[in-house]
Amino acid sequence: METYLITGGAGFIGSNFIQYMLKKYQNIKIINIDKLTYAGNLENLKSIENNEKYNFIQADICDKTAISKIFIENDIDYVVNFAAESHVDRSIKEPEVFVKANVLGTVTLLNAAKDTWKTENGFKEYKKYIQISTDEVYGSLGETGYFTETTPLDPHSPYSSSKASADLIVKAYYDTYKMPINITRCSNNYGPYQFPEKLIPLIINNCLNNKELPVYGDGLNIRDWLYVEDHCEAIDLVVQKGRIGEVYNIGGHNERTNIHIVKTIIDYIKENIDDIITYDLIKHVEDRKGHDRRYGIDPTKIKKELGWEPKTTFEEGIIKTIKWYLENGKWMNNVTNGEYQEYYKKMYNK
Ligand code: NAD
Ligand code: DAU
Repeated sequence: METYLITGGAGFIGSNFIQYMLKKYQNIKIINIDKLTYAGNLENLKSIENNEKYNFIQADICDKTAISKIFIENDIDYVVNFAAESHVDRSIKEPEVFVKANVLGTVTLLNAAKDTWKTENGFKEYKKYIQISTDEVYGSLGETGYFTETTPLDPHSPYSSSKASADLIVKAYYDTYKMPINITRCSNNYGPYQFPEKLIPLIINNCLNNKELPVYGDGLNIRDWLYVEDHCEAIDLVVQKGRIGEVYNIGGHNERTNIHIVKTIIDYIKENIDDIITYDLIKHVEDRKGHDRRYGIDPTKIKKELGWEPKTTFEEGIIKTIKWYLENGKWMNNVTNGEYQEYYKKMYNK
């Protein structure tokens, strides 16, 4: 039985990954450690909380003592580090928080893993540390071209700079100690359990509450969208088959402008829920400072080496996602401290 240490498993992608893995494999054990910041929510894991192969520990990845204890008490085979401060706008306001969680947290985890996995001649076999990074470390693209694994790092926000710093530390552990690692760099995820500070759940939430829809700048910035389950599948493949020391970009050529995303959500809600929701709700607001113009992943390496391709098109994924939020008003209501109340009441108390 293999033991996975998943960090940040109460957040958006981590909670999807834990559910994906427990559904797919019978013979694994998962330990989820999460500090439970504003973004961590144990409700995301309700469906598996009593699974005997799953264990939750509330801990900060920066807490050396707590992390070492977990490594001493458990024979960890894989670390998959999702834990991070993840929202660009927050990083512009509070950069230190990001450096602490994303950089110091990563080095604390790496050290604990190195100390328990090292042998006289190197490292125990079949152990690996996987760093979940982001395409934002590459900076911003012009109208053409894509990020490959060899694109130079050129992060712009405090968030992406902290993630790039963490990537370099992980690389240093491979270069210096030959520690078994992989780094994955994924494009924008969307799907169930995403905190409604991020574009897609925020716009869905605001539409349902008939509130203004804030679009930064001209709305023509481009992101490369990936349905979260496709990301989980890719990470699983990297854990199982990724070549030691390698970086894998994850994305599937689903580039869309922000304004297209917002209009797609309005169109669905107008047609299916409430026809008072129109484009009039769109409000172009002040642009994000240092706003990256375009992200676009070249996924050739992961496709060629690991046979991964995304299964969900943006058109399918966005409908699945909107439906999930419509069906989970209670979840949205809880994470927004009642902000979702109006829609929730309309839907369930009629
Ligand atoms: P999220 O903000 O939803 O979740 C982060 C989780 O980490 C939360 O549960 C939080 O409580 C936990 N956490 C934060 N600081 C911690 C600490 N010091 N110790 C322990 N736990 C801590 O983020 P997400 O969107 O699920 O992103 C997960 C990872 O994937 C991040 O590393 C992010 O950089 C990366 N990523 C995200 C995306 C995306 O589109 N969301 C895309 C590419 C990469
Ligand atoms: O590319 C991967 C990254 O994607 C991850 O590493 C980050 O953790 C994740 O948060 C995400 O970063 P973005 O900044 O791209 O995501 P966000 O949802 O914050 O914004 C998406 C785009 O929408 C971006 O161009 C800014 C814009 N936006 C965002 C918000 C919240 C708006 O126009 N209005 C908004 O209210």
